[in-house]
Amino acid sequence: MICILPTPNLMAKTPFLIPLMFLLLFATFRATLSANITIDEFALLALKSHITHDPHNLLATSWSTSVSVCNWIGVTCGSRHHRVIALNLSSMDLTGTIPSQLANLSFLGWLDIHNNSFHGSLPTELTNLHRLKYLNFGNNSFTGVFPSTLGNLSKLERLVLYRNDFKGQIPITIGNLSNLEWLYLDYNSFSGSISFSILNIFSLVKRFI
Ligand SMILES: *[C@@H]1O[C@H](CO)[C@@H](O)[C@H](O)[C@H]1NC(C)=O
Ligand SMILES: *[C@@H]1O[C@H](CO)[C@@H](O)[C@H](O)[C@H]1NC(C)=O
Ligand SMILES: *[C@@H]1O[C@H](CO)[C@@H](O)[C@H](O)[C@H]1NC(C)=O
Ligand SMILES: *[C@@H]1O[C@H](CO)[C@@H](O)[C@H](O)[C@H]1NC(C)=O
Ligand SMILES: *[C@@H]1O[C@H](CO)[C@@H](O)[C@H](O)[C@H]1NC(C)=O
Ligand SMILES: *[C@@H]1O[C@H](CO)[C@@H](O)[C@H](O)[C@H]1NC(C)=O
Ligand SMILES: *[C@@H]1O[C@H](CO)[C@@H](O)[C@H](O)[C@H]1NC(C)=O
Repeated sequence: MICILPTPNLMAKTPFLIPLMFLLLFATFRATLSANITIDEFALLALKSHITHDPHNLLATSWSTSVSVCNWIGVTCGSRHHRVIALNLSSMDLTGTIPSQLANLSFLGWLDIHNNSFHGSLPTELTNLHRLKYLNFGNNSFTGVFPSTLGNLSKLERLVLYRNDFKGQIPITIGNLSNLEWLYLDYNSFSGSISFSILNIFSLVKRFI
């Protein structure tokens, strides 16, 4: 059987194939990126739907699907991968709860919602945010126990929970947070003795408990 292989000549005869291939490659790349930014958008829209009071209409006007989430108020995206890396909703007079979908912001390193009226308990999924370095929930009305998987946030450097109504024991897994520098737990309803595992955190420089 004779087999004619046209491939070596094909590129020469049809030079448009090369740019076409790049275009296809780029389109696939774009599709992958936008698929993931959709996950982030989904997570933030879930948060928006859990905001029951937004007196300055900040999210109501800015968090619109007609613009990229990277341009939404309080949202910062990474310059390389265009995923949400920081969320800062501090002092916006917001009332609401935290949905488990927020844990889908898998590139999040900075989460600051201090000085609002967030309430309810925290979804355990929150500790899936393994890139988190900064977590500030201070001066809200959170209740319930802090997820016992706290120790999974292994990159955490600052944990700020002051002025809430958290109850129960501080998770013993806090001792696993070997990068923790700031720990603000004061003005809560934590019970029991503070876990001795805190003493194992040598990185700790500021502590209010
Ligand atoms: C995008 O999401 C897909 C799954 O939806 C995942 O396999 C892929 O690693 C993600 N890419 C980036 C750059 O996060
Ligand atoms: C977070 O947002 C508040 C109010 O919008 C602003 O004052 C503060 O500087 C922001 N923090 C950072 C680290 O961008
Ligand atoms: C909290 O918000 C109030 C206004 O609502 C502002 O005056 C105060 O400086 C804020 N405190 C912090 C620690 O951001
Ligand atoms: C986001 O999180 C929710 C709840 O944790 C989950 O059901 C959902 O499948 C996740 N993924 C996406 C893409 O929203
Ligand atoms: C707590 O937040 C409220 C606004 O939600 C603000 O009026 C108050 O000054 C804040 N208190 C502290 C101690 O930051
Ligand atoms: C979180 O930590 C628990 C043990 O404390 C472990 O069983 C679980 O697999 C961890 N989850 C993730 C996502 O790392
Ligand atoms: C967390 O700490 C406990 C002991 O406090 C240890 O048994 C466990 O292996 C640690 N987990 C991780 C993921 O480091």
